[in-house]
Amino acid sequence: MSDFIMMLKLDFLPLSWLLGTWESDEPGEGTFPTIKPFRYTEKLHFSHVGQPVINFTFNAFHAESNKPLHRECGFIRIEPGTNKVAFIIAQNSGLVEIEEGELTGNQLKLQSQSLGRISFAKEPHVQQIGRVLQLRPDGKLEQTVSMATDNQPLTQHLYITYSRSS
Ligand code: HEM
Ligand SMILES: *[C@@H]1O[C@H](CO)[C@@H](O)[C@H](O)[C@H]1NC(C)=O
Repeated sequence: MSDFIMMLKLDFLPLSWLLGTWESDEPGEGTFPTIKPFRYTEKLHFSHVGQPVINFTFNAFHAESNKPLHRECGFIRIEPGTNKVAFIIAQNSGLVEIEEGELTGNQLKLQSQSLGRISFAKEPHVQQIGRVLQLRPDGKLEQTVSMATDNQPLTQHLYITYSRSS
């Protein structure tokens, strides 16, 4: 079967704009009421193996030293015939999460539905996550992440834009 016909059979077609590699063009901005603001770079990969599922990795680095920092990987599914999207995510911090939401045009808006963590995860613990991923009209990908912790209400933690690098 040709790749093209294969794609047509895949339920993630509405998300095919994500596929490939993305790199932050300018450093992302990290903020939260309880921490010192920071800058980071990040590389995203989205691919598939012919199943109606996207697998992804997000790797963040210190903006100056290039030291690896935050890492996430997981899977993306769409409920067939709908715009309902689910992210299944594991993070190197010891957090696992399911985020669900909707795809509207080229914007994906997600909210955590369930969070789990290792028994010795650092405190404060994350209690809620909100994420928006959108393909902008200028061709850049933009991601914002908000979180609530044990002691802070839902507040923005990350803002970053990426350019496609393959
Ligand atoms: C969904 C993804 C993420 C979650 C749930 C998350 C969660 C957290 C939490 C709970 C804190 C501690 C806040 C506090 O002390 O009150 C934190 C701090 C921090 N995060 Fe994130 N984070 C995420 C992504 C990232 C990414 C991509 C970076 C990029 C480098 C990053 C860098 C940092 C830094 C530098 C701090 C402050 C120092 C520290 O506590 O380690 N985070 N994050
Ligand atoms: C997705 O899975 C395939 C097969 O295991 C792997 O070759 C590919 O690198 C993965 N992609 C990402 C972005 O993790």
